[in-house]
Amino acid sequence: MTPRTPPRHIACIMDGNGRWAQHRGLERTHGHMAARASFEAILDSALEEKVEWLTLFAFSTENWSRPEEEVSFLVRFLAQHVIGREAQRMHKRGVRLRLLGGEDPRLPAEAVNRLREAEELTRDNTTLQLSLAFNYGGRQDLCEAARSLAAREVPAEQITTEVLARHMQLPELPDVDLLLRTGGEYRLSNFLLWHSAYAELVFLDVLWPDFRASHFRHAMELFHQRRRRFGNLGATDAADAYDRVGGAETADTVGATEAVAVGGRISPPGPTALLGLPTAIASQLGTTLRDGLRETARFALHQLTAESTKPERASRLP
Ligand code: IPE
Ligand code: IPE
Ligand code: MG
Repeated sequence: MTPRTPPRHIACIMDGNGRWAQHRGLERTHGHMAARASFEAILDSALEEKVEWLTLFAFSTENWSRPEEEVSFLVRFLAQHVIGREAQRMHKRGVRLRLLGGEDPRLPAEAVNRLREAEELTRDNTTLQLSLAFNYGGRQDLCEAARSLAAREVPAEQITTEVLARHMQLPELPDVDLLLRTGGEYRLSNFLLWHSAYAELVFLDVLWPDFRASHFRHAMELFHQRRRRFGNLGATDAADAYDRVGGAETADTVGATEAVAVGGRISPPGPTALLGLPTAIASQLGTTLRDGLRETARFALHQLTAESTKPERASRLP
């Protein structure tokens, strides 16, 4: 099996507070209040998992379009009750708070001060970098970078992806490895557009106030089942082909694993080590082997199910 590389940067779109409250006949603001436990759950889980960076989407540049009452509640509540009250606890645990988002005259000075104080208090901590996307928009972040380049008159030929990244709001922010969204929506909503270019996307049906450590663990499991290739055809493909034939049983290979079980499992080592072949050939061989086994199993199962009274077993094949 491919060794588990922990995600360095997890980003989360914390969505579903309003619906959580509405389902209970409550005001939407109650959903935001109920989300404190979820904030603690994701922070504790990220610390436990030794994640280096955690970015939480707390308030988007588009959220200003919500009713004034909700906006004003959200901004104050986040700054004073979530970050303000959590600051000491975060500090004790080595969490460094980083603010990610534009300044805006609509943000109450008191709330901004609270956030800046927490940033200052935690500035020397190194265990976990918590970036709070507050009044944040991915397009605005890119636009600011372009402005900064123009303001410094950086020549066009010197503008590379690395240079542009250095002009973004938080230049140290690494690429996102795992992007998680709760609330059942399948979109980015203008979050970390640049940094999520190669993020693994995980969408969970749970509403954010119900999010707990078990949901985090589930997301991590899904992350570890993914094969990250970054546009490449790496050695992982050979391991991948091996895993799919006789190794790990993942959500998208349950059918294949089940099919192989009909003819007995293949034992390690994988095709590359076994045959001493170059990776690309071994990878191709692995894929051909898998497809061949799948076909054989499909045929065998077809024969079996033709006589059996359980036709649904065949339909579970990929
Ligand atoms: C996420 O929950 C919190 C913020 C956007 C600040 P929502 O308030 O969007 O809740 P739903 O999606 O309407 O349920
Ligand atoms: C995204 O959620 C913003 C935050 C979680 C802060 P929204 O609820 O604002 O996103 P849309 O409007 O459903 O896309
Ligand atoms: Mg929402």
